[in-house]
Amino acid sequence: MHNHLAIKGQLPPLRGWATSPDVLLRLHAHIMATRPRIIVEFGSGASTLVIADALRQNGLGKLVSIEHSDHYGAQTLGTLQTESLEGWVDLRIGELEAWEGEHLNPEDAEKSSRWYPLSLLEGVEGIDLLWVDGPPGATCLFSRYPALPALAEKLSPNAEVWLDDTIRQEEKDICERWAADHGFELEYYPLEKGLGRLTRADAPVVAPAPMPQTAVAGSADDAAHPERALGLDFSLPEDQGKDKR
Ligand SMILES: C[S@@+](CC[C@H](N)C(=O)[O-])C[C@H]1O[C@@H](n2cnc3c(N)ncnc32)[C@H](O)[C@@H]1O
Repeated sequence: MHNHLAIKGQLPPLRGWATSPDVLLRLHAHIMATRPRIIVEFGSGASTLVIADALRQNGLGKLVSIEHSDHYGAQTLGTLQTESLEGWVDLRIGELEAWEGEHLNPEDAEKSSRWYPLSLLEGVEGIDLLWVDGPPGATCLFSRYPALPALAEKLSPNAEVWLDDTIRQEEKDICERWAADHGFELEYYPLEKGLGRLTRADAPVVAPAPMPQTAVAGSADDAAHPERALGLDFSLPEDQGKDKR
């Protein structure tokens, strides 16, 4: 079995709040294939580790990871340090605050618009990949919408934007507005929680974010655990190591 990920330990438990394994696999493979120099992430966690690992394997690039929670930010930093990956990540933490800019959240909505402090984005330029997995959906309606209005001027010409969780109608609406307002082509990947991928129409053709191949293609175990193609074990701690080839 190919072992694409070079980390030695375990990722934080996946699913639930974390990015689903199938998206992480695509993200890792995409970064290895396209070798982006600047990546910005909203919402740190397992994805931070996976992106940092791909950058280290590429030998170039930087991830600016934007996080609102001191607690989860510290957790992410700890796992990066355990894998000696912290040098590939500029982790910036700041509490969500009132968002006065353009938003899809109605003015009379129950929860007013909140987003990351814009000061966290200072100095960020030439973004090749924008990966949006925060803030949490419970923040307000369309909580992830500000990401592109906030960074549209900071994208490189062929930048891609990926939005997690597009099985939710809110995330689909966000993707469609982003595509229409900022000149992107939009494609949905039918993954566990859905993934929206926005690309520039005139960008050079890049193969669709590939799935790494497992050594024994087509087995029931591969289908159930695609993350194992990266040498990852996403099972609960008590189940770790069971059912593995
Ligand atoms: C969708 S999660 C981001 C997940 C991250 N991209 C990953 O791959 O793990 C959005 C935010 O939820 C928070 N979060 C992470 N784990 C959590 C948990 N177990 N319970 C509640 N909030 C969590 C973090 O502050 C994170 O920025």
